[in-house]
Amino acid sequence: MRDLSKYDYEERASEQDRDDYWGQVRRTVKGRPVGEDQIELICDAIKCGLDLSSADKIIDVGCGNGALIYRFQKDVYKILGIDRSDYLISVAKESFQAKNIEYIVGDVLSVLKSSICVREYNKALLYGVFSFFDDELALSFFEYITKKTNIRRLFIGNVRDRLLAEKFYKRPVSASELDDSKSSMGVWRTREYFTERCERLNWKVEFSKMPKEFYANEYYFDVCIHR
Ligand SMILES: C[S@@+](CC[C@H](N)C(=O)[O-])C[C@H]1O[C@@H](n2cnc3c(N)ncnc32)[C@H](O)[C@@H]1O
Repeated sequence: MRDLSKYDYEERASEQDRDDYWGQVRRTVKGRPVGEDQIELICDAIKCGLDLSSADKIIDVGCGNGALIYRFQKDVYKILGIDRSDYLISVAKESFQAKNIEYIVGDVLSVLKSSICVREYNKALLYGVFSFFDDELALSFFEYITKKTNIRRLFIGNVRDRLLAEKFYKRPVSASELDDSKSSMGVWRTREYFTERCERLNWKVEFSKMPKEFYANEYYFDVCIHR
């Protein structure tokens, strides 16, 4: 079966204009890139969720083309961006490079496991990416972060709310469709999913919603986990 989630951020992304940074990561409304006001709302949520400070060393998991994380370049000490899309990382290196940012192409777990510097980092961002992790990868990721890193806070933004999936699709949807990490929308999850896993691994979990003015407010929620 075709992996649409990979296709979207590799081939499809490379068909967009080289400087259509939001189009490349599907941050669009009716086919047009969202406005600066929407990006500012996302940045406010990330700042608050990660409780950012100038000493922070952040891993941006699924950083895409770097357009989002680059906005925090002056607020934190250091950033490591990881993404499995060769194309998006090439855009990041071309357009969103800075002395304190490193971009690495590869699947999240293999990069984390092979980078000797990973233990330096204290916070992680996953914005619009967690839906593309199947349950096995999600669990391995949480376990790895818990046991092998010094990350103490994660912000997982833009999680598709499973309880609202049928309202979104306006039709009945099967569990296998909602669990398909290779679809364009990825996996839809409940708040209980996060609560259960976090309890097991001794993390505290908090949920939030973007403000009403946010274009993708209705069907998504954000998760902040910390220990
Ligand atoms: C919607 S984009 C979000 C990009 C960026 N976080 C942002 O918000 O602008 C999702 C990104 O997750 C990346 N991704 C999905 N699964 C991944 C994995 N297992 N390892 C690394 N990157 C992954 C995709 O390549 C894509 O660039």
